[in-house]
Amino acid sequence: MKIESDHCLRGKRILIGVCGSIAAVKTPLLVSNLVKAGAEVRCIITPSATHLVSPLSLATLSRNRAYQDKDQWDPIEPKPLHVTLAEWAELVVIAPLSATSLAQWVHGLGEGLLGSVLLACEKPIIAAAAMNTGMWKNLAVQENWGRLQAFPKVLCLSPSSGLLACDREGEGRMPDPELIELAIKSVLIRKDSEGIIQCDWKGQRVLITAGPTLESLDPARLITNRSSGRMGVLLAQAAKLRGASVDLIHGPLQLSSALLEGLTTYPVKSAQEMQTKLTKLQTSANVIIMTAAVSDIRRKNGATLTKANKTDLINSLGNDFETVPDLLAEAIQRKTNNQLFMGFSALTGENSDLQMVGEQKRRDKGCDLLFANPIDRPGQGFEEHFNGGFLLGPGSMAKPMPIASKLLLAHQLLDEIRTVQTNISQSN
Ligand code: CTP
Repeated sequence: MKIESDHCLRGKRILIGVCGSIAAVKTPLLVSNLVKAGAEVRCIITPSATHLVSPLSLATLSRNRAYQDKDQWDPIEPKPLHVTLAEWAELVVIAPLSATSLAQWVHGLGEGLLGSVLLACEKPIIAAAAMNTGMWKNLAVQENWGRLQAFPKVLCLSPSSGLLACDREGEGRMPDPELIELAIKSVLIRKDSEGIIQCDWKGQRVLITAGPTLESLDPARLITNRSSGRMGVLLAQAAKLRGASVDLIHGPLQLSSALLEGLTTYPVKSAQEMQTKLTKLQTSANVIIMTAAVSDIRRKNGATLTKANKTDLINSLGNDFETVPDLLAEAIQRKTNNQLFMGFSALTGENSDLQMVGEQKRRDKGCDLLFANPIDRPGQGFEEHFNGGFLLGPGSMAKPMPIASKLLLAHQLLDEIRTVQTNISQSN
C-alpha cells in the first residue's frame, strides 16, 4: 500500500501573533514545535506581550526576526510591513489572543502591527483566546468572541478550564500548544482554495468510543490490549474542529492529555462500563464511530478479591472466563433511522483477507461502514501515528485508504462518512 504521510507542516509559512496574556509564555514552545516539524515561522509580538515573553526567545526559536510595532513604519521596508507579512503567511495563528486585541480586531481597528495584519490578512486565521475567567465571561468579550466566530476564515479555539496564573480556577487557559498544532494541521488539510475553513460537520452529534478496555482478573492482573486510543481521539478532535458536537467514551489511553482538551469525555475501564455509557449516550447521537479495541475476555463473575495462584489461574481459563459481549453489534440493535454506525477492525493478513474478513464483520455486526486496518505491518496501526486500510461500506464499497497520519486519515474518514450520509439520505 502506498505511503502517503501528511507532512502538512513542512515548508508552510506560518505567522504567529502573540498578545498580552500570561499564556504568552507557552507560545515559544508552539513556535519551536512548528519549526521542528519543518514550518517557516515568523512572529509578531504586541507591546504588552513583550512584558511577558521576550522577542529574542521568539526570534531564536523561529530563526527569524520577531516583529514589533516599532518595525511597522521602518523606512527600510520596501512595502508596509503589515501588508508584507499578511501576504507572506499561508496561515496566521494568534496565540494567545487577549481581550483587547480581540475587541480591536472585531471592530475593525488596525491598531499596531498585529492589528493591521489581521485586517489586511486574507488567509485563514486560528485564534486561541486566553484571559482571566472574569474577563472571559464579561458580556462585551463574549459578544466579541461570538462576532469572531462568524468570520469565515477564522477558526476560534475557546480557552480551556483549569487553574489560571491569577489563582482563579475556571475558563481562560490558552489551549495547549499541542492542541493548537493539531488545529493548524487540520486547517492546512481542510481549508479550501479561498482559505475558508469549512464547518461541514455543524449540526452533527457524534459519539465515539476509543482506546482499549481492561478487565481485572484479580488485584494484580488484568487483560487489555495495545490500543493507544489515538485514532478515536483524533477523530473526535477533527469532528469538533469541523463543527460537530462530540461525546467521547474512552478506556485508559496512552496519549498526551492535551489531546483531550475541549472534548466532552467519559473515561471508563471495563467493557461493562463502556456499554453502560454507550447505551446512555447513543440516543442523542446521529453518527456513532466505534474505534475502541474492546478486550475480548473477562472473568465470568468479575475479578477475584484475592490474587489467584498462577497454576489455578491457567487451569481456570476455560471454565471461569467468558467472551465480552459485542458492544457494537448490541448498540446497532437499538439503531434509529437517522443513525449511521461505523466500526473499526484490526486485522492481519493480505489486503484481500482484510477486505473479505472485514466485509463479513461489517455484515455480521450490521454497521454501515467498517474500517479494516492491518496491525501486522511496520509503522502503522496500534501504538503508531500512522494508519491505513480499507473502508468497507454499502454496495460492495471497498475504498483503499493509503497510509497517512492518523489526523489526516481522521479527516478523510469524516469526508467519507459525510458522502455516505448524503447518499443514504438521497436514496430514502
Ligand atoms: N467491538 C465491540 N465490542 C466487542 C468487540 C468489538 O464493540 N466486544 C467493536 C469495536 O469497537 C470495533 C469492532 O467491534 O468497532 C471490532 O470488531 P472486530 O475486529 O471484529 O473485533 P471482534 O468483534 O472482537 O472480533 P475478533 O473475534 O476477530 O477479535
